[in-house]
Amino acid sequence: MAYSDRARVTTATSRPVAADSGVAPVSIGREAPRGGVFGLLPELSRDALGLLTRCARDYGDMVRVRLGLTRAVLVNHPDLVEEVLVTRNHDFRKHVGARRLGSLLGNGLLLTEGDFWLRQRRLMQPAFHRQRIAAMGETMVNTTLAALDGWKADEMRDVSQEMIELTMQVVGRTLFGTEVGEDLSRIRATNRVFVEHFRSRLFTMMILLPDRFPSPGNRRYRRAVGDLERLVYRIIGERRASGDDGNDLLGMLLAARDEAGSGMTDRQLRDEVMTLLLAGHDTTALALMWAWVLLAQHPQAEATLHAEVDAVLGGRPPTAADTFQLSYVEHVVTETLRLYPTAWVIGREAVRDTEIGGQPVAKGSTILISPWVLHRDPRFFDQPEEFRPERWADGLVQRLPRGAYLPFGAGQRVCIGSAFAQLEAMLLLATIAQRFKLELTDRTGPVEPLPVVTLRARHPVMMTLRTRRTNRSA
Ligand code: HEM
Repeated sequence: MAYSDRARVTTATSRPVAADSGVAPVSIGREAPRGGVFGLLPELSRDALGLLTRCARDYGDMVRVRLGLTRAVLVNHPDLVEEVLVTRNHDFRKHVGARRLGSLLGNGLLLTEGDFWLRQRRLMQPAFHRQRIAAMGETMVNTTLAALDGWKADEMRDVSQEMIELTMQVVGRTLFGTEVGEDLSRIRATNRVFVEHFRSRLFTMMILLPDRFPSPGNRRYRRAVGDLERLVYRIIGERRASGDDGNDLLGMLLAARDEAGSGMTDRQLRDEVMTLLLAGHDTTALALMWAWVLLAQHPQAEATLHAEVDAVLGGRPPTAADTFQLSYVEHVVTETLRLYPTAWVIGREAVRDTEIGGQPVAKGSTILISPWVLHRDPRFFDQPEEFRPERWADGLVQRLPRGAYLPFGAGQRVCIGSAFAQLEAMLLLATIAQRFKLELTDRTGPVEPLPVVTLRARHPVMMTLRTRRTNRSA
């Protein structure tokens, strides 16, 4: 079956829930304890995953909490998630926390709203068509093979860094085409500043000084935004001057026209390119990092994955078309994103007085939907804390209620790069697993999640590279 003929199904976003589907009824929860002067904000900053999980367990499917000066509603049931992201989505916009990324991403697709967002989404959607994405498979695999040539048997590497490096190269090459070698090191340097900037202020940013305040950290951040911006403008300028559309995402964005025949301005292209560069590598890299950790902790699953990769590929590098035979690899990706959804919280803000689950929600309220909490809910997942890729083998995705599994979000604002990310994750996993087995070492320690903008590991994830003896022919 051709790659484009079959949509990969890993989000439960498009099916109605039958009245007799047995979906657990919604329990509208009580108000959580008020906490101190900043409400539960300090606890959220200290242990967000624990707090969100405890609130769902102890107070139900819709929990009202106070975070600093903000009143927030934690939404923990698929039906309520559907209301916020799908049926009542016009009552909500992106949350102020996400909007703080504005100095970096401008009016890029992730942050804009309303008619302008719709125009941009329509312009960009064709560039993310499955057929176009499939054509990028070769770049994904070749980039990985080139990186693996530098990997040596029995050496130890920080797998989070390795995966970030790889996915950055992939998005750089698929966005800008051929060689972005020099530029990649600058993108990497600026990216480190962004991660550090947001790491220190994800929740506290609601009450902290704005980015304009001239603190050393803010100055470093603004310099990094300027650096990346200059680089992106230079690449756009060179591409416009060459008149070459190029067979890459930038070429497609340059060629995109709306119904009135208008293309994007350089400023808008800058915003979209910055958005794709940043949204397009970190999430996938971290998903891969969690996959390697889980596989190393579950030797049986790892052996099944190795056996499938060897049987399907017989030693040759994978292609996009092969991914339809690599069903266990797909289940590993799906299960990893269930246990470690790298977009671990989705935030919204009510733009008018509205309701959720029949309960009033005031204009300005923050709504937090956590895939971390939803994906570990025993009402929807059997033994939810266990890593069991095979749970996806018998059509679980069809049986789940909409909104129970949403690593890529849901509704209009669902991730535009989900097919890209899934293809990339599968191809990188298969390519690496053909050659290497990644082992956790004594130096790794427990791998603790750190929820920042994305779900990272608190410490470097050091793993030892063991070469695999396979019937490799390439
Ligand atoms: C495993 C990898 C990924 C995960 C878990 C992920 C997750 C998400 C989620 C949850 C959203 C919705 C946010 C919301 O509703 O507030 C989103 C939106 C978005 N993602 Fe991804 N993403 C991934 C990979 C990618 C890639 C590879 C790209 C681009 C190449 C990308 C580009 C975007 C963009 C542009 C949006 C905004 C879409 C819109 O609002 O119209 N993402 N992503």
